[in-house]
Amino acid sequence: MEKLWFLKRSGYDPRSVVSDGNRFLIANGYMGVRGTVEESGSDACPAVNLAGVYDRYGSRWREPVNAPNGLFVKVFVNGKPMALGEAEAVSHSLAISYRHGIFSRDTDFGAVSLSSRRIASMAQPHLLASNMQLRFDVDCQVTLCTGISADIWDINGPHLFEYRFETGDTLLCEAVTGEKKIPVAVAQCVRRDFDAVETCESGEGGVMRTLRFFAQKGAVFSLDAFAAVYTGLDTDTPASAAEALASAAREVGFDDCLKQNCAAWERIWESSAVDLEGNDEAALALHASQYYLNSIAPRHAGNLSIPARGLSGQTYKGAVFWDSEIFLFPMFVHTQPEVANSLLRYRIETLPGALKKAAEYGYRGAFYPWESQEGGEEGCTNFNVVDVFTHRPVRTYFRDKQIHISADIAYTMRQYYEITGDRSLLEEGGAEVMLQCARFYLSRATRHLDRDSVDFADVIGPDEYHERVTNNAFTNEMARHCMESALALEEIFADCPARLHSLIEKLDYGCDWKRLKEVAGRIRKPREKNGVIEQFDGYFALEDCSLDTVRSRVCDPREYWGGDHGVAGTTQIIKQADVIALMALLPQQYDTAAVAANWDYYEGRTEHGSSLSACMYALTACRIHRLDWAWELFLRSASIDIQGGGKQWAGEIYIGGTHPASNGGAWMIAVLGFAGLRVQKGRLELHPNLPEQITCLRFPVTIGGRRLHITVTHDGWTAEEAS
Ligand code: BGC
Repeated sequence: MEKLWFLKRSGYDPRSVVSDGNRFLIANGYMGVRGTVEESGSDACPAVNLAGVYDRYGSRWREPVNAPNGLFVKVFVNGKPMALGEAEAVSHSLAISYRHGIFSRDTDFGAVSLSSRRIASMAQPHLLASNMQLRFDVDCQVTLCTGISADIWDINGPHLFEYRFETGDTLLCEAVTGEKKIPVAVAQCVRRDFDAVETCESGEGGVMRTLRFFAQKGAVFSLDAFAAVYTGLDTDTPASAAEALASAAREVGFDDCLKQNCAAWERIWESSAVDLEGNDEAALALHASQYYLNSIAPRHAGNLSIPARGLSGQTYKGAVFWDSEIFLFPMFVHTQPEVANSLLRYRIETLPGALKKAAEYGYRGAFYPWESQEGGEEGCTNFNVVDVFTHRPVRTYFRDKQIHISADIAYTMRQYYEITGDRSLLEEGGAEVMLQCARFYLSRATRHLDRDSVDFADVIGPDEYHERVTNNAFTNEMARHCMESALALEEIFADCPARLHSLIEKLDYGCDWKRLKEVAGRIRKPREKNGVIEQFDGYFALEDCSLDTVRSRVCDPREYWGGDHGVAGTTQIIKQADVIALMALLPQQYDTAAVAANWDYYEGRTEHGSSLSACMYALTACRIHRLDWAWELFLRSASIDIQGGGKQWAGEIYIGGTHPASNGGAWMIAVLGFAGLRVQKGRLELHPNLPEQITCLRFPVTIGGRRLHITVTHDGWTAEEAS
């Protein structure tokens, strides 16, 4: 049903341009093209955001590079620009097909109406293609400029230098990044069904082709544009690769490029689409979140992960957070294990960065970056927030103290093995990652002379509003799980113990292995009061006030609630799921009574100030049959990017973009929560908790290499093997 895969918004409001850029994003894992109209200048934040290519300008934050925009088109009628914001539009709409990743735009300027479609080809990761139909309502002289615009959006740029342009049948724009001198090349060709006088020129703003022609009232003209993007990380000859691809695409034509793209998307949906019956709004939101997530999967690389704001821009420095393992990985490992494999290979390949970071802080083992960039470089700075009152950077401790990151990665390595049944990832570096993460916790733990138990002092848990706390329940339990998972390698490699032993020898791990056995059981168990786990030592003694009270103390809507002076820090109000996240990740450790007691305590004290929060509460709500809550939180997670929701500012820092973690969270709630899917020792189980709003859920999963089609209704469930 088309309408369950399609979003359209009508009307032009300059205030929605940035959120529309996210909402109408098209991407193919290699690059993301923000949903801005063709004629946009940098003030509309257009971007062709490249995966895995980073640059630092001066001492500013390192961030991913935006390539020049090869699909630029601007139309002038009798010398007047037919451009949003410059000319009055009679009508205007933007739309996206979530099924096939097609952006479309319809704007009627009176004299001319422009209808375009655009794809970031899922079949050809380096290719962008568009078609524009121009319908004239007057006899007029037309000037159409199309080409590669270098007027691009940068948050901490500029990042491209030494521009070189070539004109001709194929336009070419080459540049290099500032820091590492990585070449970036964009080539553009067009195909048109009308005669025009054509000239080309280049200048500061890029390289443009100008087409001049006369149009009669009623005439309809069509222009295809093909842009190819390569960098020096893809090939030694990015310019010629880009030229070759753009001109090959022109030979094929837009319609065939579109067909290939649609076929590639159909293959993705065959393995992953979740169809929800009973509520069309929810069905659309779920498809949308799956689209936002599927469109940014690094299928072309095999060793890349996904940034916290996907490919929607440079927010959050384009860095990879724990979001990838805990929130994005579940959909991929159950539907497209090859993508899950890529996310974890990224961690395997960036292990040296994690070892270096641990050593810098005086620890052994692997301390993964909180915000990981290329090669495992730590992108997180000491000052991540700018105070809205003093305009001074605020010292935050995410980089130094959010140590649960290594345990999250080790947890996911084990999950990969348990769900796919494939040990090769562990053999090819995953086991080493697990051992080095466990070693990090051994060296980070504190033992007091007068106690048997072991503490993790001076940490930050998932709730970032309380910094530098001791014995955060999430951190302690995940660290324990990490140590136990390292020890479980013995069982996993039981059929070939020599393999593990030689790794232990290579890492000089003999003593640590013994210590793991001793320390894992001694990590301080979280304190409890009436069945409620104390989030960290001293949490219950903090001011116990309502969320509304804390809100009433806020003086500026952009002010940051954490840090030294934040309004939440001295209270029990938390930013996001913390104890509840723990219960969602390690369900076997907590019975339903424990989940219910903690859910009741913490939900009312949670701001849900991070888009990572709602899904953890929804998953646990399913376990305790609070289905009204689960449904509400599901809608919140699934519709975040359709609605342009989520926080846009942390102090004075822009943090908007798409929300892959929330998108992954929506899949988790639908499949792991509502359908209650679990894989236990390679066996699939379903324990459905369908809310009354859903009559049926249908979805494919791939478990242990077998694809199954699952159907869940209020009467039960079936699983059919795919042919
Ligand atoms: C959250 C983190 C998250 C990051 C990136 C922050 O606001 O507190 O848990 O990893 O955003 O999504």
